[in-house]
Amino acid sequence: MTQKLLEVKNVSKIFRIGGMLRGKKLIAIDDVSLDIDAGKPIILSLVGESGCGKTTLCKMLMRLHKPEMGEIILDGYSYTDKKSFDSLQFRLKVQPIFQNPYESFSARKTVDTYLFNTALRLGIAKSHFEAEKLVDESLKSVGLSLAAVKGKYPTQFSGGELQRVSIARALIPRPKLIIADEPVAAIDASMKMNIVNLFKELKDKYKISFIYITHDLSTAYYVSDYIATIYRGSLIEYGPAKEIMDHPAHPYTELLMNAVPVIGDKWSEGLSMPDMEDKEYAISYCKFAPRCQYATEECRQKRPDMIDVTKARKVLCFHPLIKPSDEEINHAMMA
Ligand SMILES: Nc1ncnc2c1ncn2[C@@H]1O[C@H](COP(=O)(O)OP(=O)(O)O)[C@@H](O)[C@H]1O
Ligand SMILES: [Mg+2]
Repeated sequence: MTQKLLEVKNVSKIFRIGGMLRGKKLIAIDDVSLDIDAGKPIILSLVGESGCGKTTLCKMLMRLHKPEMGEIILDGYSYTDKKSFDSLQFRLKVQPIFQNPYESFSARKTVDTYLFNTALRLGIAKSHFEAEKLVDESLKSVGLSLAAVKGKYPTQFSGGELQRVSIARALIPRPKLIIADEPVAAIDASMKMNIVNLFKELKDKYKISFIYITHDLSTAYYVSDYIATIYRGSLIEYGPAKEIMDHPAHPYTELLMNAVPVIGDKWSEGLSMPDMEDKEYAISYCKFAPRCQYATEECRQKRPDMIDVTKARKVLCFHPLIKPSDEEINHAMMA
């Protein structure tokens, strides 16, 4: 069996909105499963419109939210296994990058302080002196250096440069996984590709896997090895990026791909239906059916199961746009 770096097993997150009595339940993440193999680093993009649950899933992966159901296992250690789970080890293996670098760094501290603190707090360096080489190396791998950054405050950097510093900070423990939630959303359009290119470089150089969360499909298009499409809290399609882009299997992914904008553009406004959001989250049949041009009676009666359309591709749909291969059908019948 292939060793897994990350296993997300049937994970759900429920928010209760309003009071206990009259409040509503929002299933913000609904039975999501996915995994990343160990040993072969990948960039997995989580894509979907604003409000579909990307940040909620990301927060669960970073242990900032506890799932109501399901299990997350990193490098063989379950987040919920209090005996074997070690939070220092976790932070050595998983590092975050956030959306707005000006919010990640305090305006009153020089940015190099953060890099030194990470090295010292995680026990990677024993002294400031020992940390210097490490900090400089990390900064150099994102095209900066300690000499260029030392003593400077966040406002002395552009958004793109500051996001590079965040990446350098995340690299200090040489993590196995970096989780980046909309890391280029607040960055100047001309710098976006620059940052996502860096992910590709670092993946190869340091064998780090990335979970790249974005609603900017054009960068996902370019950078991902795998894509996971999220719709109203459900994972609706998963597989190798190029295959999904060339031949989407889910009607929603098709809709997104047809609307792929030029680099830096957001989703077309025509795609979002915010007034429907709560209702669609609560639908007991296929959540996409109300918007789906291919929907049938079956789609309006029950929820589809996740099916394998090829060995590497999964889709949550009764009528996928690509049909399972004979090999998959044989495989399913033998199982
Ligand atoms: N702390 C919270 N309490 C209640 N509802 C929340 C909370 N966080 C997120 N939500 C809701 O969960 C849904 C998914 O939000 P989020 O994960 O932030 O989406 P995305 O990152 O894809 O834009 C939205 O409907 C949002 O309003
Ligand atoms: Mg978000």
